[in-house]
Parts: sequence; C-alpha cells; structure tokens
Amino acid sequence: MRVLGISGSPRRGKTTDRLVHEVLDSVGCESEFVSLAGKKIAPCTACLACVKDNTCKIKDDMGPLRDKILAADALVIGAPNYFSALNALSHCFLERFCQFRHRDCSALAGKYAVIVSTGGLEPEVPAAMIEKMLLYYQIKHVGSVAAQGAASCFTCGYGETCSTGAVRMLCGEGVKITDDIIPDLSKQPDTIDVARGLGKKLGEVLGAVV
Ligand SMILES: Cc1cc2nc3c(=O)[nH]c(=O)nc-3n(C[C@H](O)[C@H](O)[C@H](O)COP(=O)(O)O)c2cc1C
Repeated sequence: MRVLGISGSPRRGKTTDRLVHEVLDSVGCESEFVSLAGKKIAPCTACLACVKDNTCKIKDDMGPLRDKILAADALVIGAPNYFSALNALSHCFLERFCQFRHRDCSALAGKYAVIVSTGGLEPEVPAAMIEKMLLYYQIKHVGSVAAQGAASCFTCGYGETCSTGAVRMLCGEGVKITDDIIPDLSKQPDTIDVARGLGKKLGEVLGAVV
C-alpha cells in the first residue's frame, strides 16, 4: 500500500475524516483510510522496551497499525484542534511513532506526509505541531491543509445561549443557529482545492520515486 490516511478525530465522517479523504482521493495510487475513532491508543510510557527492535510493547490498537505505517510510502495525517493543541488521540498515536526512532535512524526516514488540520476557531494549530513531530521521525513534509470544522457547540443544544461556547465566540451574542452559519467543508471550496492539490502533488512525488 502506497498511501495510508489516518484521521485522529473521534467523530467519524466529520471534517477531519472528510479532508483526509479529499487528499487520498487525489493521489492517483493505492491508498487506505484508517479512522482512530474508537481505538484505544495509549501514550508513550518512555519504557524504552522498543529501543532494540523498534517495536512498542504496549498491547493496544496501535499494534495492528504498526505494519500499515511501515508498509506505506506516505502518510496523510489528520488531526483536530482540541484546546489549542493536537487532540489527545492523535497525539498518542504520533507519540507511539517513537518506537521507530532508535539507534541512529528512523524506520520512517524517507517517507512522505501530508498534514490535515481542523479546528472550530484555529484550524491550523494541529498542523504546526504535527509538522514539528515529522522532523523527529525524518518524514518529509509535502504540505498541510487546514479547514474550519463545526465545533460541537453548534449541535449540543445550548449553543445559542451558552456564554462559554464556540458559537458565541464565532458569531457573537443572540445568534440563531441555522445551516448557513454552521461551518462546513462544503463551504470552503478553496480548502478542498488545496487538499486535492496536495494529494496530486503527493502522487507525483511518489510516482517519481517508484
Ligand atoms: C474538547 C474540544 C476542544 C476543542 N478546542 C478547540 C480549540 O481550542 N480551538 C479550535 O479551533 N477548535 C476547538 N475545538 C473544535 C474542533 O477542533 C472542531 O470541531 C473540529 O472540526 C473537530 O474535528 P472533526 O470535525 O473532524 O471532529 C474543540 C472541540 C472539542 C470537542
């Protein structure tokens, strides 16, 4: 498999998943999509048990993903912004890449990555963090795309009146929640174009290294 797309959103079919799919659908080569939703992925415990064989010893859902990551020539990594950071599920997933980074080299060195980033207010924040992590793993950054997603405050039932929620932060006081004010990827054609362009670029890069 050439390109592995991973969405770290716990919400299936929402903005992060959709934007990862936009990239994958444009690569023009074999790809697979994996959602981390519902998966149990613990943080790295710094136990160092992976130093000798590059294999993490924590028994959880990261185990089956290990072979897929190693087999892929490129990754499309998507994550949402939770509290001005990468959400914890995506962070745990990327922390566990530590198993690949020992004894002079990274087992992921030379792979390529496109980063997909989402947020209700600051969608670009996860991308900036993931880009730094790629350096540790010697993964080549092809590009990033960021989209505004609908914060759950738009559908929690209290969004119109809640003083601490994202609806008031984005739209101000006294707003009525209607479809036209709910952020959605379909209302961001330029962002979709960027995602498709990055998918195409990734496909070209991979075509050149076959
Ligand atoms: C617990 C939580 C915290 C969040 N914190 C932020 C934040 O600090 N900044 C931001 O821009 N969006 C924040 N959001 C909004 C999400 O990033 C946004 O809804 C995004 O679309 C989620 O991705 P998804 O649609 O793929 O699930 C938060 C959402 C949740 C659930």
